[in-house]
Amino acid sequence: MREVTYRLSQRLSGLSKSSFDMLVKAKRLEDEGRRIIHFDVGEPDFDTPKNIKEAAKRALDANFTHYLPPQGLKELREAIAEDEKKTKGLAVSPDEVIVTPGAKPMIFYAILAFVDPDDEVIYPDPGYTSYRSMIRLAGGRPVPIELREDEDFALDIRRLERLISAKTKAIIINTPHNPTGSILTIKDLEGLAAIADKYDLMVISDEVYSKLIYEGEHVSIATLPKMRERTIVVDGFSKTYAMTGWRLGYGIVPQQLVPKIVKIVTETVSCATAFVQKAGVEALKSAQNDAENMRKRFKNRRDLAISILSESKYIKVKKPKGAFYIFPNIKALKVSSYEFTDYLLENFGVSVVPGPAFGIYGEGYFRISYATSEDLIEEGVRKIVQAAEEIASKGGI
Ligand SMILES: Cc1ncc(COP(=O)(O)O)c(C=O)c1O
Repeated sequence: MREVTYRLSQRLSGLSKSSFDMLVKAKRLEDEGRRIIHFDVGEPDFDTPKNIKEAAKRALDANFTHYLPPQGLKELREAIAEDEKKTKGLAVSPDEVIVTPGAKPMIFYAILAFVDPDDEVIYPDPGYTSYRSMIRLAGGRPVPIELREDEDFALDIRRLERLISAKTKAIIINTPHNPTGSILTIKDLEGLAAIADKYDLMVISDEVYSKLIYEGEHVSIATLPKMRERTIVVDGFSKTYAMTGWRLGYGIVPQQLVPKIVKIVTETVSCATAFVQKAGVEALKSAQNDAENMRKRFKNRRDLAISILSESKYIKVKKPKGAFYIFPNIKALKVSSYEFTDYLLENFGVSVVPGPAFGIYGEGYFRISYATSEDLIEEGVRKIVQAAEEIASKGGI
């Protein structure tokens, strides 16, 4: 018998490193008995609100354990349509909503629906790591657009236009933004809408942090004139309701595309978990006190972390307007992002994610996820400031 050689597909090459890599390093140190403060994972530390868990338990007892129509439970699609209208001013019919197991599959399905081999999709850099990987998995060519700190990490329309070719099919945007916490203003979105119209592009608008806003307001590009037809809005329950492990998200999809994308759902996952969809109805239809309290706590934590970081001469920060991330600039230290984050982990027991994990333009930055307790933020962020002082006084690592 000969040894098996796996003739893997091309699409598996060149996938992005995940921010989970940092977590793996941190866990190794923890296994050796070290205490580590985690600012690495991008998920709320809160528990899912009790009423949502109760709704899932009731649904289980009522045997909500069978397949559902692939597009999703009608009751949930109605609740989503109502919520999109109320929170974003987006007039949506329940027939235009597709429910998926998390926002992530919806992003992938939107890409799969448009991308043929070698088609190009523009995505934000720094940005959520999965975009690049998903474009590659779909056989497309990922084209990063640089987001710059001196432009508030917004999209520069002229830079965007230079990246467009005859092969460009779509652009992915993300507001509020992971990893910088920036939000796109109506002016930014109007510029993008004009470009999408001029070059006949689809927009995939990732709005999973739409309800975690501390200053300004969330604007969905789909609310701009003529943009509904060329936008797939993606949102979900993970971040707002601390439901990361439940896997529930959705897309608002132009009517004509609904059967095409529902077909992908049917052939890949059949449907999102039945009793989880019932819990989703409860999340949207019940009082929003728990979600609002979590948002307020995130805002206070952001302010605490920013006030401590601002004491440093070597770390430059922009106050993020949404999500639960800060993306500090450490270029003054003249060390690479990886050198800094490794130093911080090994010498101070603080785990953050190096900027290049979010794309090539993330060099010189690192990401703090402040979805953790106030005490740990106080202690850990002070250690970050101390690490920067130490590196600066030694003139390097
Ligand atoms: C920008 C962005 N989009 C999508 C997701 C995935 O969301 P979900 O858990 O709903 O799949 C994340 C999770 O970190 C994210 O940061």
